[in-house]
Amino acid sequence: MANSTKLHNVNIDDFRNRILKWYDTHQRVLPWRNVGKKKANPYYVWLSEIMLQQTTVVTVGPYFDKFIKRWPTVHDLAAAEQDDVMHEWAGLGYYARARNLHKCAKVVSGELNGVFPAAQEDLEKLPGIGGYTSAAIRAIAFQKPANVVDGNIERVMARIYAVKEPVPNSKPHLKKLAGGLADGRKDRPGDYAQALMDLGSGICTPKPPKCMLCPVRDLCAGKAQDIAASLPVRKAKKPKPQKHGAVYWITNDKNEICFVRRDEKEMLGGMLGLPTSEWVLTDTDIQPEKGYKPLGQFITHSFTHFDLKLEIYTKKLRKGGRLSQSSPVWVPTTDLGALGLPTLFKKVVKLAK
Ligand code: ADE
Repeated sequence: MANSTKLHNVNIDDFRNRILKWYDTHQRVLPWRNVGKKKANPYYVWLSEIMLQQTTVVTVGPYFDKFIKRWPTVHDLAAAEQDDVMHEWAGLGYYARARNLHKCAKVVSGELNGVFPAAQEDLEKLPGIGGYTSAAIRAIAFQKPANVVDGNIERVMARIYAVKEPVPNSKPHLKKLAGGLADGRKDRPGDYAQALMDLGSGICTPKPPKCMLCPVRDLCAGKAQDIAASLPVRKAKKPKPQKHGAVYWITNDKNEICFVRRDEKEMLGGMLGLPTSEWVLTDTDIQPEKGYKPLGQFITHSFTHFDLKLEIYTKKLRKGGRLSQSSPVWVPTTDLGALGLPTLFKKVVKLAK
């Protein structure tokens, strides 16, 4: 029986009750939460969970507000132009999320009457919704018991149970431990999941944890063994590869700058950007196209799997001059501030302007 399961000789209901009681007074007030009796809006929950993948609550806040103001319902988002969605997403990164977000809105609006499904199987058929997001939506939007495990919750589990095996190998084990706790009393599953997230982000912080403020500190094996701060153990990361390339700042006689819409299959796919060469692993392999002058300036940017260094090259296109870029989008220099650009290109604009 789940209810009689013990955690270091402490009933898991005790753990859960303390976590929920702590949440009642310490929860963060976030626009997608059902504070008080108000029911959570599944559209808000879905949108927030997609935005929060790999991105902090602080960064997501203003983006979430912009989206729900411009597109108050899933039907509004579905009816939006993809370029407008990409524009509003610019700066959040991981742009495949935005493309899938728009696809998912179209399915929910067009095929499901705007109603998000509550069953795991139906949710996971939707574009961009995997195991984590479906669990979060079921728990938070529909009050269904689900094992929601994000990075914060993994850290809490590693400490409560003093798991010394390094992540990422230990992830399945941490998920199982979280599932054991989530399996206790099944009331308030959304609050319980978000309570663990808030505990992880505010109290059970990476280094150092604030154990003195923790409502379950006396249940924590990591604290008892005085190793909480060192958990979870991480495998030493491999250094990131360094890539190189050229980025082109092309002006015309009307004081406009040449941009291109990036191919969906490449990095920053679907976003507007300045033209670039290929990004390659050795800098001697960069072959800037003919007719460009180096500006003597570089920008660097870090992606998840590699670091990038781009040298800025410029060219003035004469009237009637030919461009190798197939579909240039010419933008007046006065409009550059309002363009939805990925951070990489914002950095180039700042330097080149
Ligand atoms: N991170 C992912 N989902 C979250 C949520 N609902 N609340 C706070 N942080 C989160």
